[in-house]
Parts: sequence; structure tokens; C-alpha cells
Amino acid sequence: MMENKKTGFASGIGFVLAAAGSAVGLGNLWGFPYKTSANGGAAFVLVYIACVLVIGVIAMLCEVFIGRRAQANPVSAFKKVNKNFGWFGLLAITIPAIIICYYSVLGGYTIKYSLNSFAGNAGKFVSFAGNVGEVILYTVIFLALSLFIVMAGVKGGIEKASKILMPALFVILLVIVGFSLCLGEGVSDGLAFYLNPDFSALDGAAILAAMGQAFFSLSLGMGAMITYGSYTGKGINLIKSTAMICIFDSLVALLAGLSIFPSLFHYMAVEGISASELGMGGIGLMFMTLPMVFEDMGVLGQVISFFFFAMVAIAAVTSVISLMEVVTQFVIQKFHILRKRATLVVTGICFAVSIPVGISLGYALNGTEALLIFGNNWLDFFDIVTNTVLMPVCALFACVAVGWLIGAEKATSEIEADGTSLGWFRPVFEVMVKYVTPILILVVEIFGLIDLIAPKNDAGVRIFSGNGLGIVLSAYLLLGICAGIYFLFFRNSYTGTNEDEKQTDAIEEKEEIEAIKEAYTREL
Ligand code: PFF
Repeated sequence: MMENKKTGFASGIGFVLAAAGSAVGLGNLWGFPYKTSANGGAAFVLVYIACVLVIGVIAMLCEVFIGRRAQANPVSAFKKVNKNFGWFGLLAITIPAIIICYYSVLGGYTIKYSLNSFAGNAGKFVSFAGNVGEVILYTVIFLALSLFIVMAGVKGGIEKASKILMPALFVILLVIVGFSLCLGEGVSDGLAFYLNPDFSALDGAAILAAMGQAFFSLSLGMGAMITYGSYTGKGINLIKSTAMICIFDSLVALLAGLSIFPSLFHYMAVEGISASELGMGGIGLMFMTLPMVFEDMGVLGQVISFFFFAMVAIAAVTSVISLMEVVTQFVIQKFHILRKRATLVVTGICFAVSIPVGISLGYALNGTEALLIFGNNWLDFFDIVTNTVLMPVCALFACVAVGWLIGAEKATSEIEADGTSLGWFRPVFEVMVKYVTPILILVVEIFGLIDLIAPKNDAGVRIFSGNGLGIVLSAYLLLGICAGIYFLFFRNSYTGTNEDEKQTDAIEEKEEIEAIKEAYTREL
């Protein structure tokens, strides 16, 4: 209680595991496998790896670097780059705040599914999703778990939890992959379906899907890497850490597919069901199809189901804590509020918003047309606003900040002066960060917008969508609001650094000591 908590990670590996925890989430365990199978298998994997190298590594380096050089929250970090661009940082805090509200609902689902494994989850998805009380209960459980971790601080909570949970996740994943590959009948068909390279499937849409997936999966454009980066010191090798995070994230994504498809095809072979009869994508794969597969395996399937969904829940918790930390860090530093209180406020607000999200998703899954925003349930609306529109913008800002506002050459000199030698990578990075990566991110953004405003109909013809336009305008309105708030309230006022948390803690400690002394004297 009295120890002066140092803010920041205690070790380099602590940072890597925490950042990998942020990166490994539903995007890996669920999004990657079905996108791969739908977009050309191994051919898609190759494109994905290229995207990780060309966009992911560079953007991640930028975010971690911006955070580390400022040792502060994203607003102050961007402000340090240029006072007129601090609103980039406000966007980097707004995005995670929105994501928490819907990700927690899904996180809650995974906990429910894990605990309910022995009673059986098959066929219960729609009724569960429509049960408002239960959905809220599990969202609360999920948020409470995340809350306790963030409340305990970066070193004592996030780092410690990541050091235990990430290896646990990896071990569970390996065991399930092993199990899945040993099922016999159907396994080779599953592997073929997942990985057989089909280069003809690699159209523009598939390549864009790979780029978008690389972003989301590496937790870029959502403030997380800036905030976690701010908790690292000069002793950490930026290149090695970034490489390790990206490799681990991609490995987990690949393994996730190996854990799912062989089991799925084994089930299909045994039951004589064809691929087209099963839900292979979206929310249905995880919450409808897999439970049937597990149920078919008897008691062993129940055990596997328990661990599988526990693993997904772990991945979701270690992702959400990174986002909670982004928002909490800013609240602590800007308003000088103690971590405990700041975490409670942030979680409380996100929980309040997650209630209509959960309800509207339940309605949507039950076929009720209610609580829609521009034709989408709240979860999809928030998801599109952040993933498709705002996250690429935010990641683009990070690259522009490093490549142009700080200047690529100055940035690489700073990185080297801080002890990370770049070698041959230095000129490559300078060109990438200035031109290649920003242009590619811009392409992702523009095509994302086109697909929203003028999606293709079944005949492949683009048709204007008023709802799509509404979503795009809402997202850009939010961007404008971030800029407005920044210039009104934050540009000319102090927005805090990591030092502020220490000071607030010290004041609290002093007050605590005074109170104890006083009580003691009164007793005497
Ligand atoms: N990298 C995460 C994933 O792949 O699921 C993205 C993410 C989503 C991070 C939601 C954090 C979060 F709360």
C-alpha cells in the first residue's frame, strides 16, 4: 500500500507479452481463420504476412516510438510532436473507448460459453443473445475481470496478468491444435479448405481484407501501442520487440485456424454435412457452428469447449485491458484522479453504453428490427465506425507524425540514439514510413469508404447506400468533434505525462500517512 508504485513495465518481456496480449484477440482466433478460408487459403496467408511486414511492423514501430519518446498519454504524445496535432491523440483515445463498449459484450459471450460447456452450447446462441439479463450479467463479469487488472496498475496488473495469461493461452491453443489434428477422418479436408493456395481468389477485395485484418489484429490505430509504448524505457529494443509482437500475433492467428478447421471438417465427415450447410464465417462460426462440433465429441468435446472458450475469453480480456488502459491513462494524467477511481469511471461509462449494444445485438440475432443505427445494430455500427473508418485514419496519423512531422531521418536518429541500432533497416524504414505505408493505409481507408457508401449488390454492381453514407458521416463527425474539443480545451492546457500518476500516488500516500498518524494520535 505504501510502496511508491513506479508506472511502467518492469521488463522488456513484460512489454512484449502485454502488447502481444493486446494484439492477440478475437481478430486472431476467429476473424483470421474464416477470412483465410474465404479468400484463397495459403495465398491469403502470404498476402497477410506481406501486409504485416509492410504496414503492420512500420505502423507499430511508429506508435510505440511516439508513446515512448513522450512517456505520456496519446494526447500529450501527439502534442509533443506538434502542438496543433494533439487531436490525433484524442482520436486515439476515443476509438478504444468505443471499442470497449462492444468488445465487452462479445467477451461476455465467451465467458458464458466457456462456463456453459458442460451443459452444452449447441443451438442456444439466439436464445442466449436475446436474454438481456444474462447478456448484461456476462458483460459485467467480463468488464469486472478487466477492471481488476487495470486497477492494479501497469506493472502490478497488466504486466503480471499478461505474463500468466499469454503463456496459458498459447499452451491451450497448442493442445487444441494437437487434438484437432489427431481426429482422423476429415482432418486433411479441413487443412485443404483452410490452407490450399488459390491464387485466383486473390482479388482486390481479398487484398484489402488482408490489410484491414493486419491492422485490427495488431491493435493499430487504437491508441494501445502508443500507451503501452509510453510505459517502456530506453532499454527496450524497439525493433526486436515489434518483431516479436508481430510474429507471435501471426503465429497465433495461423494456429487458430489449425484448431478450428480440422475439427469442423471431421464433424462434417462424421455427420455427412456439407460445408455450405454450416456457418463458416462471422459470429456464427464461433457461437453456433463450433458448439455443435464440440457437442458431437461427447464429454471430451465438453472439456475442449471449456478450454477453447476460456482461451478466447483470455484473448479478449488481454485485448480489452490494453484499450481500458489507453482511456484510463489519459483520465489519470489529465485530471489527476487516482488510478482506482479513473478505472471505475471509465469502466462504468463503457458498461452503460454496452447495455444498448448487447440489447440491439440480441434483437438483430432474433430478427427484431429495433434499436438500429443507420440500418445496423449498435455492435456493427460501432465496429464499422472504428474498424473501417477511424482506425486507418488514426494509424495514418501515427505514420505521418513520424515520417513528416518529426521527420523520418530525425526519428531514426532518435531511435538509434536511444540504443536501438537499425542497421540496413534504417533507410528502408525511412522510405516506408514516409511514402509506402501511409499510401497503403490511405488505400485501405478509401476502399473501405467506397464499400460503405456504394456496396456491391449480388450482381456485382455498386449501388448507393444512404445508411453507409450515414455511418461514414457519423465517423467523420466524431473526428471533427475530437479536433474541436482539443482546440477548445486541451491545446493550451497541460495534458499530463506518466509522471503525473506517480505524483498523484505520492500525494495520496502522504494523505494516507497523515490520516493514519492522526488516528494514531487520537487513540493515544
Ligand atoms: N488485436 C485485437 C484483436 O485481434 O482482436 C484487436 C482489439 C480488439 C484489441 C478489441 C483490443 C480490443 F479491445
